[in-house]
Amino acid sequence: MIYLNQDFTVTPWEVKGEVDYNKLIIDFGIKPLSEDILNRLRKHVGRLHYMLRRKIFFAHRDLDWLLDMYERGENFILYTGRGPSGHTHLGHMIPWIFTKWIQEKFNAKLYFQITDDEKFLFKHKLTLETVKKYSYENILDIIAIGFDPDKTYIFLDTEYSKTLYPLAIRFAKHITFSTARAVFGFKESNNIGQIFFTSMQAVPAILESVKQGKNVPCLIPLAVDQDPHFRVARDIYPKLGFYKPAIIHGKFLPGLGRGGKMSSSIPETCIFTIDKPKDVRRKIMNAFTGGRPTKEEQRKYGGNPLICPVYQYFYFLIEKNDEKMRKIFDECRNGERLCGECKRELAEKMVKFLLDHQKKRENAKDMIERFMLRD
Ligand code: TYM
Repeated sequence: MIYLNQDFTVTPWEVKGEVDYNKLIIDFGIKPLSEDILNRLRKHVGRLHYMLRRKIFFAHRDLDWLLDMYERGENFILYTGRGPSGHTHLGHMIPWIFTKWIQEKFNAKLYFQITDDEKFLFKHKLTLETVKKYSYENILDIIAIGFDPDKTYIFLDTEYSKTLYPLAIRFAKHITFSTARAVFGFKESNNIGQIFFTSMQAVPAILESVKQGKNVPCLIPLAVDQDPHFRVARDIYPKLGFYKPAIIHGKFLPGLGRGGKMSSSIPETCIFTIDKPKDVRRKIMNAFTGGRPTKEEQRKYGGNPLICPVYQYFYFLIEKNDEKMRKIFDECRNGERLCGECKRELAEKMVKFLLDHQKKRENAKDMIERFMLRD
């Protein structure tokens, strides 16, 4: 069930190669975000977020159902998360920026799970103390996104366990090892915590329903690597008397190298939110591009923005104006834009973006407890 082939791999713990999103739609059994559903969304929010206009969020499960419920007057909650294996990078910010927009547009509560247990169990070198340190570092980035402090509840699995554990075991009782093995490719050598883990990731979607004592619809924004957890868990929610959560799936911000998503395991191709301007400039200036080997060839034949991470960073994060984005595309294609100047432009805009984020991150230090959910 996980997508493994010669060209690319997508699992919750590994994304490699050039991801073919159309293939994923078929293999994961998810639905593309059609014009119909985008039009329905537009009715409620007005102009769509650039990540929807650009199909950075490209697929869903049961979003049509969620909108039916909403139109009948049932508000939904949001749920998303972070596995704190290191510092936050720009890729992680993509679903969070989008989630903040939905929170604003629908005035929705947000449950934000920090899966410190997951990263402890899956990363052999990480101690619980280190994951906890990263959890609180990552929480600063989450708060800096600008979520509503009165409607956003952040928690660590190991700290909020009195509430989470009794609910997780209800899921666990319905998930056999053979299902987990088929979906995640587990072997006999996997530790038993890893096999159990999906039940922890399932729980936050029902926290509001448990609290209110009645079913509350839930929408989960994520990048598509996290979908397999919910593919397993969605079969279980109705067995426990809850709605299946709806999901909206995003694409991956690539790393600065050739192919593959941004991943902390290759730090030179990865921009962290705490990076200093000189490091950001160096990483961008060394990036792979879709350009030609020489200036002359670039002028003559143009570059290929579609395989270029520098272009993708404008597209995913930095240039929200569609006309300006189109201009960057055209200038690259027709050879007017050279890679050196394009990288310099991105580097300066990225530094500005990060300095602004870092200021908000600093201010977040006094706000942590306003956001934390405690047993
Ligand atoms: P984690 O920490 O790997 O990633 C956090 C979120 O970022 C998405 N993501 C990316 N999005 C765009 N481009 C990238 N390069 C990129 N890399 C990662 C992930 O899909 C995720 O949405 N187990 C989860 C934490 C979690 C969670 C959830 C995530 C717990 N509950 C509910 C989503 C929804 C994890 O380790 O995510």
